[in-house]
Amino acid sequence: MIIGQISDTHILPPGQLAYRRVDTAWYLARAVEQLLKMTPRPDLVLATGDLVDAGRAEEYRYLRELLAPLPMPVYLIPGNHDDRVALAEAFPDHAYLPRGGPFFQYVLDDHPLRLIALDTLLPGHTGGLMCEARCAWLAARLAEAPDRPTIIYMHHPPFRTGIEHMDQYGLDGSERLAEVVRRHPQIERILCGHLHRSIQVRWCGTVAMTAPSTAHQIALDLENGGPLRYVMEPPAFLLHLWRAGVGLISHTCYVGEFPGPYPFRDTG
Ligand SMILES: [Fe+2]
Ligand SMILES: [Fe+2]
Repeated sequence: MIIGQISDTHILPPGQLAYRRVDTAWYLARAVEQLLKMTPRPDLVLATGDLVDAGRAEEYRYLRELLAPLPMPVYLIPGNHDDRVALAEAFPDHAYLPRGGPFFQYVLDDHPLRLIALDTLLPGHTGGLMCEARCAWLAARLAEAPDRPTIIYMHHPPFRTGIEHMDQYGLDGSERLAEVVRRHPQIERILCGHLHRSIQVRWCGTVAMTAPSTAHQIALDLENGGPLRYVMEPPAFLLHLWRAGVGLISHTCYVGEFPGPYPFRDTG
C-alpha cells in the first residue's frame, strides 16, 4: 500500500498569487502531474490541511478542479486557513466527510492501514486545538481496533519544531492528545502539515512528522527573531509505503524538473 501526502496547497481564486508572489495553483498542478507519472501510483492521497488560502467557496471550487485528474481517492482535512462549511459544500461527493457535526474527524477502515483523521481547526486562530471532545472521540476510535496498524493525520503538529515563529501557533491540547497516543502502540505514524517543511520526531511512542508544502516552504529559522518568512525551496510531497514485516517507510518526493536519473557507470 502506498499513501501520498500533499499538504498546505493554499489555493487562491484563479489568477491570484499568494503574497503576490506564489502561484500555488500552478505548483499543485505540478504535484498532481508528478503523482500521476509515478509507477506504481499511490493507492490514495491525504491532503493535510490549509487546502485553500482563505476558506472561500471559489478557492475550493478551484482546488476541486486541480485535484480532479487524480484517479485515486483523495481524503481531505481542514487546516487553519480552511472553512469547514465551504469545504464540505465544494466536495459533496466526499462521503467520508462528516456532515452536520462540529468536527471533520473520520476513520477510513477499508485499507491495510487504518487511517484516522483529526480536525485541529479553531476558527479565527492560526494555532490549532485538540479539545476534550475531539480527544475522547480519538480514544474511542483507537480502542475499537487496538491490533490494527493505524495512521493518524492532522494539520497542526502536536510537537514543538524548534521554529519558534511556528511553535507559538502550535496545537493547544497537545498534552491531552499525548496522553491518548501513549496508550495506543498501534499508531504507526502521526502525519501533519502546517509547518511547510519535512520534520520528524519521536513522540509518545510513535513517529510524528510534518510534510513540506506543494508550494512555498517556511524558512528554517531557528533564531527567535525577525518576522516569519517563507522561502522557495523545492516543493515536495511525502510518500508513505506500507510493507508487511517492515512497517511504514516515509519518503520525500521533490516536485520539479531535475537532471537525471543517470546510471552509476562511467560512460567516458
Ligand atoms: Fe500552511
Ligand atoms: Fe497551517
